[in-house]
Amino acid sequence: MNAPERLPNKIEFIDLKAQYAALRDEIARRMQAVLDHGQYIMGPEVQELEAALAAHTGARHCITVSSGTEALLIALMALDLKPGDEIVTTPFTFAATAETIVLLGGVPVWVDIEPDTCNIDASKIEAAITPRTRAIMPVSLYGQVADMDEINAIAARHGLPVIEDAAQSYGATYKGRRSGNLSTLGCTSFFPSKPLGCYGDGGAIFTSDDALAQAAREIRVHGHSARYTHTRVGVGGRMDTLQCAVVLAKLGRLDWELQRRHEIGAAYHRRLADLNLRTLTVRPDRDSVWGQYTVRVADRPAVQAALTAAGVPTAVHYPKPLHRQPAYARYGDPDGCPASLAAAAEVMSLPMSADLADADLERVVAALAAAVGPRTS
Ligand SMILES: Cc1ncc(COP(=O)(O)O)c(C=O)c1O
Repeated sequence: MNAPERLPNKIEFIDLKAQYAALRDEIARRMQAVLDHGQYIMGPEVQELEAALAAHTGARHCITVSSGTEALLIALMALDLKPGDEIVTTPFTFAATAETIVLLGGVPVWVDIEPDTCNIDASKIEAAITPRTRAIMPVSLYGQVADMDEINAIAARHGLPVIEDAAQSYGATYKGRRSGNLSTLGCTSFFPSKPLGCYGDGGAIFTSDDALAQAAREIRVHGHSARYTHTRVGVGGRMDTLQCAVVLAKLGRLDWELQRRHEIGAAYHRRLADLNLRTLTVRPDRDSVWGQYTVRVADRPAVQAALTAAGVPTAVHYPKPLHRQPAYARYGDPDGCPASLAAAAEVMSLPMSADLADADLERVVAALAAAVGPRTS
């Protein structure tokens, strides 16, 4: 198989082709091994990956599942979420965060974000807690963990578990510990464009609570605790062996990729500092793996059009917070969470991946400089 052609002028938003080119032999070897042994469901690579990721995050248990969405769903089921239970979370996130709550009959309770990180504002969480609150679910948006110590302390005061939606932050660190292993449960996604991705759908749950791990393992396979013994209601939520093999193949390059992500994020920060836009803040006690490299610009449609014309792809994560989405509008006040509404009008994500070439980064910066001009204040 030949390497795919790259148009000389086109910058990839996320360069998965370059990553594949670098890993082609290892991916082929890993996938061939699965085809040879033929255990496509729950083959040895599933356990091997779970052991590797548990060791990498420091969590006692890793349970692979069929997607990041399924990870959140199974985590909430393991906590025995009941209809009417409230989960405190952020509206400035991907739909899956709230979708899983609502699917189980739960109620998302929105807490606004910090404008400079776009993560949930921990100082506003306690006011949102009621006797019906069942858990707190922060999202590690764009690859940076929220204020987990503060969030865990609030949760402890109220006897609540914390679920980190770490779909965008695999590999990130917070006070020296890994995202996914910072609270009761952590849920990540291996969607192909995530910091650690497979070639389809996949995800994982992390926990150091033995009972929750056991519950999650059972729920993943239709709630069965022994063959044809269904002790709880579950789902068909396994991650298939081939996808685990792909993630295993990528682990050998992960440290290098995380290092590159930090370097590229730092380079963007430096090079954009004097432009008429706002970069996001990374708190000093943590890092970001830049699942998205996102900035805030005043006239986003015009800036996006100028970048598109210059061959620079952009994306918006997210144009409408969940409390303004038709499916979730009945939860809370549509005019609430003003910082989320303001961010939704301004955020714009730039090309970002470990394989973004320095020259391409310079092209993105030059196109942005031409579009927004120098900082005025
Ligand atoms: C914050 C967040 N939560 C959950 C998910 C769901 O992950 P998946 O696409 O693997 O179901 C995503 C994926 O985009 C996400 O960004």
